[in-house]
Amino acid sequence: RYPSHITLVEVGPRDGLQNEATPVPTDVKLQLIQRLAAAGLTHIEAGSFVSPKRVPQMADSADIVRALQPAASPLHYPVLTPNLQGFDAALAAGAREVAVFAAASERFSQRNIQCSIADSLARFAPVLAAARQHGVAVRGYVSCVLGCPYEGDIAPQAVADVSLRLLEMGCTEISLGDTIGVGTPAGVRRLLDALLPQIPASQLAGHFHDTYGMAIANIVAAMECGLATFDSSVAGLGGCPYAQGASGNVATEDVVWLLNGLGVECGVSLEALLDASALISGFLGKPPASRVARALLAK
Ligand code: HMG
Ligand code: MG
Repeated sequence: RYPSHITLVEVGPRDGLQNEATPVPTDVKLQLIQRLAAAGLTHIEAGSFVSPKRVPQMADSADIVRALQPAASPLHYPVLTPNLQGFDAALAAGAREVAVFAAASERFSQRNIQCSIADSLARFAPVLAAARQHGVAVRGYVSCVLGCPYEGDIAPQAVADVSLRLLEMGCTEISLGDTIGVGTPAGVRRLLDALLPQIPASQLAGHFHDTYGMAIANIVAAMECGLATFDSSVAGLGGCPYAQGASGNVATEDVVWLLNGLGVECGVSLEALLDASALISGFLGKPPASRVARALLAK
């Protein structure tokens, strides 16, 4: 009833850290990424090529990518690129996978990337064209799929429309973002009932923030609908600068505990993951938001 293998996309070094007020030095980020890779994570979102005035924590993303040398690595190190300026900088640093990010809500699109949904898609077109030319894979994020901090409920068809456009433009996968973590399994099922007749489950990922503690339940619901890729953040780090009150992504430790319990393979060692969790939590001087990490680290 569940997929036999789940791919985890670790977004802690990007989604997790982008909202942290404490500046995290490049070498600490690199150590974190190294520990995440040592734990078995194969997809690690490494940074974001956005305006450093808006997201200062991501200003060293070029240094991170250069150090990781994605072209020489068997691992996947995607980075966010909202426009051609970001894409060119990511490519120059050596990125081989990028992500564009749109929203299913007009008002969130305005706040997050200063343009309408239609304009954002127009900005992504040259990014996708350049990516195709350079053999760079592009993931598409859609934010606010289960609710918007400014607009409230979001119609599943609004999510389908922007997802289909991103796929037509050449995105290989759509990550469905419950940006503010308001969704419940009923909403996940309603959304996927609308999407799956139009988009295969293999092209969809779940990106659940855990603000209301529903992320694990939402992952189970999405797995029951056939999704097999989920984004998560070590220690449950994060929040979104344009979604007040939003907490971090679902913690990677919690997802691995869930999958271990269900007997679903994901290739990640929980024990090794705790080293990554302890490193970043120690640096930030706060306990991990992950309940699993807190329980295991207390032992
Ligand atoms: P804009 O103001 O429309 O862009 O911003 P602009 O072209 O007018 O440029 C304004 C300034 O930004 C200029 O600098 C540009 O050079 C600079 P100035 O002349 O003022 O010194 N700029 C850039 N600098 C570096 N890299 C770039 C870049 N582009 C322009 N790529 C823009 C548009 C999108 C760039 C801006 O609004 C921005 O950076 N926003 C930040 C968005 C962001 O990072 N949000 C968080 C990530 S999304 C997320 O977390 C959701 C997700 O996790 C899924 C979910 O949970 O739902 C993915
Ligand atoms: Mg997010």
